[in-house]
Amino acid sequence: MIKTSRDRMTDAALFEEAPDVFWKGVAERLKWMTLPSEISDVSFDKDDLHIRWYADGTLNVAENCVDRHAEARPDDTAILWIGDEPGTSKEISWRELHHEVCHMANVLKARGVGRGDRVILYMPMIPEAAYAMLACARIGAVHSVVFGGFSPEALASRIEDCGAVAVITADEGRRGGKTVPLKANVDAALARVSGVRLVLTVQVTGKDIHFVHGRDYWWHEAREEVPTDCPTEEMSAEDPLFILYTSGSTGKPKGVLHTSGGYLAWASYTHDMIFQCDPGDVYWCAADVGWITGHSYIVYGPLANGITTVMFEGVPTWPDAGRFWAEIERHKVNVLYTAPTAIRSLMKDGDSFVTKYDRSSLKVLGSVGEPINPEAWRWYHEVAGDGKVPIVDTWWQTETGGVLISPIPGDPMTKPGAATKPMPGIKTALLDQDAKPIEGAGNGSLVLTSSWPGQMRTVYGDHQRFIDTYFSAFPGNYFTSDGARRDEDGDIWITGRVDDVINVSGHRMGTAEVESALVAHEAVAEAAVVGYPHDIKGQGIWCYVILKAGHTSHDSLGKELRQQVRTEIGPVATPDVIQIAPGLPKTRSGKIMRRILRKIAEGETSSLGDTSTLAEPEIVDVLIRGAEGER
Ligand code: WT7
Repeated sequence: MIKTSRDRMTDAALFEEAPDVFWKGVAERLKWMTLPSEISDVSFDKDDLHIRWYADGTLNVAENCVDRHAEARPDDTAILWIGDEPGTSKEISWRELHHEVCHMANVLKARGVGRGDRVILYMPMIPEAAYAMLACARIGAVHSVVFGGFSPEALASRIEDCGAVAVITADEGRRGGKTVPLKANVDAALARVSGVRLVLTVQVTGKDIHFVHGRDYWWHEAREEVPTDCPTEEMSAEDPLFILYTSGSTGKPKGVLHTSGGYLAWASYTHDMIFQCDPGDVYWCAADVGWITGHSYIVYGPLANGITTVMFEGVPTWPDAGRFWAEIERHKVNVLYTAPTAIRSLMKDGDSFVTKYDRSSLKVLGSVGEPINPEAWRWYHEVAGDGKVPIVDTWWQTETGGVLISPIPGDPMTKPGAATKPMPGIKTALLDQDAKPIEGAGNGSLVLTSSWPGQMRTVYGDHQRFIDTYFSAFPGNYFTSDGARRDEDGDIWITGRVDDVINVSGHRMGTAEVESALVAHEAVAEAAVVGYPHDIKGQGIWCYVILKAGHTSHDSLGKELRQQVRTEIGPVATPDVIQIAPGLPKTRSGKIMRRILRKIAEGETSSLGDTSTLAEPEIVDVLIRGAEGER
């Protein structure tokens, strides 16, 4: 058996020479029930699109992430949970993890949840969130985690879209000293949709909650009634593992579907290559399990690799900006993986919050989710990492399952903000507008020219949308919707989205979704939403709103509209600026010129370009004056 290494050059060379041997090596990181003999069967041709990896292999993801380590090292720590309240933490051993996952799996089974059923998880950052994901994997159910910052409305549309039969939640979540009414939100969502026959609630705060007889159960009570042992389902590599909803430039969020074998192999391989952890290391990805980062790099990647993974219930800035570094000192954390937005918010409170703690345990610092500006990169490297710790700026997407482009420890750390080189096995290209590859240095649209095991397989329930969204712009390629630049050394710099998706605090948001939330308000005739540079969030949400005839702006309208968006989507999408405007810049054929709206929001009004083709060019000056008032 040829094993993959932790060395980019060695693996890249193997991939060049014998791709199937390399991909077999990636698969053999896992424990298979039937070892796959097939590597891949892929076509990016939009008339015959299919993506299959290791298709004749069978395995169970939970066995890989739990049982094999519980057998080998039962007393080592699998999950180190750090509570919202400073000083609270809990170590969960592999043995306990096995025990809890089996119980949760048996509770689901006892209520009729089985292979292929969809289960929604709407949970805070507590160990039970990982138990629930792994319990689904154990019995072959498909989980779909919905971030706790989404509203009942958004939760209901996801429950409906995937046809969920069960919801796992908590009475309330805790975050930064505040509580989130998760179970009440689930109740509100379930008042709108049908099909859910089980709600399993974890008791976190002890808040009184409403129970529906025959549907709702407490986790701590249900677990007492089921056996301790739960066999693992034998799943095909291509059986779905989870669905995760993500925003695009049009329409409702898409249900990104990932499968079992390829996804886990890629999460495991990239986690090992990029973070280089060994058993005994403490690895901390400070994301939320509601996002893909939490799936691949809090739960599946590290647990598949037998590494102690931290689950953090709180936020980086509460009770103060020292929180990360205090925990790193207390638990001797070896790897921290977080988003640029967190780094920027900590930077502004000054270095003393960092330097008063001992961070000598750190070996790698990771960044994910949005472009990292050089100032934040330098601070992360020089202050947080004492100028010694390598930074891995990992580029990837919900759709890619795991990291595709990133430096790895050992690379020269000389390019703040560059995602640098693709992982072994990953083939990227930069294309110009005519879909011609840009050779050497230059700017273009970032595409993947071939598949990798962690690639999404479809949009749940809408395969045509999968094809249209990712394989139509540049036929024969997967289009990322990101722009990128290649420098003279061949290193890749991600320049950001080229579609109408914005990135707010590392959270992906469709401007069209915010617009449709705004127009649902009775006073709003039309809305146009753009991103603008925001010191902490990366991008903020700027809304231009046109009122219906007969409605005028009043003091509380901005508040009402913000509330409207929070109701339709959730607090995660709260607008930063609401500019009430008399009209929008449109072409004579009625198309909104978003480029102009973006420039106005950015304050770049000297480079608006040609506005003479607008139906009403005068509107531009009115908008510019209005925007100055908002800044
Ligand atoms: C979009 C994907 C990656 C998991 C979390 C976000 C942007 C992501 C980077 C990075 C520059 C980045 C891209 C991408 N992005 N990582 N290191 N440098 N941009 O996943 O919510 O699916 O968002 O995030 O624009 O397309 P996501």
